[in-house]
Amino acid sequence: MELKTLFSPKKIGNIQIKNRIVRSATFMFMAEKYGYVGERLLNMYEELAKGGTGLIITGAAAMDPSAAGGPYQVCLYNDSHMPGHKKLVNLMHNYDDTRIAIQFNHLGRLGYHPKYPNFAPSPIPYKGSGITPQELTTEGVKEFVKKFIEASLRAYECGYDMVQLHAAHGYFLNSFLSPHTNLRSDEFGGSAQGRTKILVDINDGIRDELGNQFPIIIKLQSQDFIPNGITEGEGIELANIISDAGFDGIEPSGGGAESIEFTKNTLPSKIIKKLEEQNYFLPFAKMIKPFMKECNLILVGGIRNPITAEKILQEGDADFISLCRPLIYEPELPNRWESGDLSPAKCISCNSCLAVMQKGPVYCVTKKNLEKRNQ
Ligand SMILES: Cc1cc2nc3c(=O)[nH]c(=O)nc-3n(C[C@H](O)[C@H](O)[C@H](O)COP(=O)(O)O)c2cc1C
Repeated sequence: MELKTLFSPKKIGNIQIKNRIVRSATFMFMAEKYGYVGERLLNMYEELAKGGTGLIITGAAAMDPSAAGGPYQVCLYNDSHMPGHKKLVNLMHNYDDTRIAIQFNHLGRLGYHPKYPNFAPSPIPYKGSGITPQELTTEGVKEFVKKFIEASLRAYECGYDMVQLHAAHGYFLNSFLSPHTNLRSDEFGGSAQGRTKILVDINDGIRDELGNQFPIIIKLQSQDFIPNGITEGEGIELANIISDAGFDGIEPSGGGAESIEFTKNTLPSKIIKKLEEQNYFLPFAKMIKPFMKECNLILVGGIRNPITAEKILQEGDADFISLCRPLIYEPELPNRWESGDLSPAKCISCNSCLAVMQKGPVYCVTKKNLEKRNQ
């Protein structure tokens, strides 16, 4: 079978991506102290670019000092961070026009910053840490909108091709979307319109400065998988509002620290028979794709088989497919598939990469163990 669609170009906003393969945001714990892009990150992204990925989304980057999850998280909230980012963007563009988006995140109520409180829409404690976050005032929320906009403008100045807002996995922006964590009675709470207002305001603020020349995509919570959280029905409503607001792409995900559904620990891909066990956000994608119009659907979550990926694209259920763990194991995977080796990704979704992320840097433990055994 020929992977005609998987290796065909498509635009996100005004940016042409050479194929439909996206590297989903992956926090690598590889910045230099404190938050700078250095050799380790450049080398890691160079491997990905060489391997043929069309669009690389960086790991979650801090858009404010209070957002950083430790000294090894990439930051972009002041001018001193910019030279490293410019180097990275230039490196990517030199590899056959690889495109790169920066993902911005704030840990919100899931944070553990020694200097700053955990900011959130409402003071709902996070059981994992026992910390009750600090509720933002209406003015405080507007300050955060500004911080996301300013960081995005810096990203544009560094040459990034687009920005991704992280509004999934329980972090700051997700906590506004969720009725479990957003009990506000001002304009940033209440109805689905109110809970998405922070995202729409960030989008509008970036557009006011840059128009449509800098695409804005979003990793969007489809479901929280916790009591009182975002349900599937609400996830559909949120996606509808977001695509109508003019975002250029949605990458639906779900779960988070309180319900780890976003990296399902699936069976090894060779054993998996059922499609839905593998591409676990596909059923949700099918529900939102029909109303997404100009907004691209980037499908992430357990995609391991290139033939299935091609089918999903051909049937119009997604515009791009997005991979995280498979590209930790095999950064050269897109080239392997394009060269005709259509065996599934070697990743067995064991989550060993996620386990090492706590101490960093991130690598595939399974691959390393196999290499050791074969020596
Ligand atoms: C080590 C690791 C780091 C991750 N870091 C991020 C991140 O920074 N931002 C994000 O949105 N998702 C992050 N994720 C989630 C992935 O982007 C992706 O949604 C998830 O792994 C499912 O895709 P996969 O089955 O291709 O791995 C991370 C996942 C792993 C395993």
